[in-house]
Amino acid sequence: MAKTLVIFTIVLLLFAISVSSSNPDPNLNPNSDPAPSEAHKVLIRFGFPIGLLPRNVNGYSLNSSSGEFLVSLGEKCKITLPPDNYLATYSKKIRGKIVENRIAELDGISVRAFFKWWGITGIRSSGENLVFEVGMVTAKYPSMNFNESPYCEGKKHSSS
Ligand SMILES: *[C@@H]1O[C@H](CO)[C@@H](O)[C@H](O)[C@H]1NC(C)=O
Repeated sequence: MAKTLVIFTIVLLLFAISVSSSNPDPNLNPNSDPAPSEAHKVLIRFGFPIGLLPRNVNGYSLNSSSGEFLVSLGEKCKITLPPDNYLATYSKKIRGKIVENRIAELDGISVRAFFKWWGITGIRSSGENLVFEVGMVTAKYPSMNFNESPYCEGKKHSSS
């Protein structure tokens, strides 16, 4: 189990490196809306990039005193992350607790690695990096990999 998690973390890091080297500058795409929904703007307000949420957000609620939020998507969303066909799924409802630079008690986002789905339980932001928590295991990605909000699979627009 522990060995699998270590391998998983290494794969995440390799993925992050390969994406950051191939990621085009989002400013070069004049058609991309920088903040597709109010929920995406909430991410920005709390120090996170909009790419953490897919495009098909159709509602959200935020308790501004506790930070508890609920994001509703039009439908379950699957995103295939290039170049390694690494899968992430978003449930129709995503819950959690957001404060400045920290999302906790996250429920609704999973990544697939080694024939298993791993629920992402929390995300921290340092501005330059995002740290994803899968239980006790963490994986760090450059935030710039998440500068653009992705389209769900089957609705993806071709780019470059
Ligand atoms: C918002 O959170 C506060 C603190 O946890 C709680 O007392 C309040 O009932 C919540 N409001 C709503 C509308 O859920």
